[in-house]
Amino acid sequence: MPNHWVHHPIDTPAVLVHQEILQKNIHDMAVFAKTYHLALRPHIKTHKIPEIARMQLAAGAVGVTTAKLGEAEVMAAHGITDILIAYPIIGKEKLKRLEELRKIAKVMTVVDGREQALELSQYANERNLQFEVLMEMDSGLRRCGVLPGQDALALYRELAELPGIRLQGIMTHAGHAYGATGIDQVREIALQEGTIMVETAQLLREADLAAPEVSVGSTPTVRISGQVEGVTEIRPGNYVFNDLTQIRLGVATQDQCALRVATRIVSKPAEDRFIIDAGAKTFALDQGAHGTTGVSGYGRVVGHPECTIARLSEEHGIVIVQGATKLQVGDIIEIIPNHSCPVANLTNEVHVVSRGVVSAVWKVAARGKTS
Ligand SMILES: Cc1ncc(COP(=O)(O)O)c(C=O)c1O
Repeated sequence: MPNHWVHHPIDTPAVLVHQEILQKNIHDMAVFAKTYHLALRPHIKTHKIPEIARMQLAAGAVGVTTAKLGEAEVMAAHGITDILIAYPIIGKEKLKRLEELRKIAKVMTVVDGREQALELSQYANERNLQFEVLMEMDSGLRRCGVLPGQDALALYRELAELPGIRLQGIMTHAGHAYGATGIDQVREIALQEGTIMVETAQLLREADLAAPEVSVGSTPTVRISGQVEGVTEIRPGNYVFNDLTQIRLGVATQDQCALRVATRIVSKPAEDRFIIDAGAKTFALDQGAHGTTGVSGYGRVVGHPECTIARLSEEHGIVIVQGATKLQVGDIIEIIPNHSCPVANLTNEVHVVSRGVVSAVWKVAARGKTS
C-alpha cells in the first residue's frame, strides 16, 4: 500500500476514505454474514455517512444500527428504513421523536431495565402503538445490559407482559474485547459473547418466551461470535474503516485500513520535532475504544517509522523524529488514526480517494447527532 493515496495537491487536514478498501471491507463482512446465515445490521456510528450505509445495504445488510435517535433520524431521512437504535430511549421528548420516526422507518430499540420499559410501554399504550424492542445483555463490557442467567430471564418475562412493547429477542456488544492483550484473548471474549447469548436465548425459550433475534457484534469479536450456532444477527461498525486499534488487536492489517488523515508539516522547530496541521480536533485523543489505552502515540505516519505522533494540542500534532527523516515543512503525510470512529465524527466531510485522486466528497450527515 503506497505512502500516499492522493497524488495531487489537497488542502489539509483532510480525512481520506479509500474507495476500494472500503468496498472490500463491506463486501468481506457481507460474505461472512451470508456464509453463516446471519442478518447483518452494521453500526453506522463509525461513519455517519448515508452513502456508506447505502453501500452496506447494497452488499446485503438488512438494515442499520445507530447509537442515537438523531443518527437514526438522519439515516431515515436518507431513505434507510430499517433501523435498530441500540441505546435506551428515555424521556417524553425522545419518545415523541421515536413515534415520529416510526412513521417513515421500521424502528427497533433496546431496554435493559424496568424503568425504561415501563416508560416505553405507558407511552405506547396510551397511543395504541407497539414499540419493537430487544433486551440488552451485558456480556462483559459492564456498560448497559442485564446479566445473563436468572436476571435476564426475570426481566425478559416482565417485559414480555408489558402492553405496547413487542419483544424481539436479545442483543449485546462485547466492547470489552478492545481491552484485550491480543488476538487470543479477543477470540476467548468473542466465544463467550456468542455462548452467553445463545444460552440465554435457550433459557428464555425453555420458559416459553419467544426470542427470535440473538444479536451480537463488535468488529474484533464478530467473526467468532457470529459463528456460534444460534446467533442470528451481527452488528459490526468499525470494520468499514478499521484503524490502529484493530491492527493492535490482530483483527486487521494496514492494507485493510480505509481511512487516513492527510496532514501537512507546518513547522520544524527542532531537528527531532515537527508540527502537523492536525491535532486533537482531527484525531481525537483516543488510544483505543471504550476508554482503553492499548495504542501508544496518536496515529501511524504511513511509510515513516522514524516518526511518532507524541502529543496533540487541539490544532497541532507534535511529531518526534528518531534518527534521520527526509520530511520537510510543506510535505503532506498520511496518518492511520488510533480510532477511526471519532475521526469521522470530527469532520464535516470525507474525501473519497480512488486511484490516486479524490473522486467524491461525502458529507458526514449524522455527525454531531448526539441526542
Ligand atoms: C451496541 C453496539 N453494537 C455494535 C457496535 C459496533 O462495534 P464495533 O465498532 O467494534 O464494530 C457498537 C460500538 O460501540 C455498539 O455500541
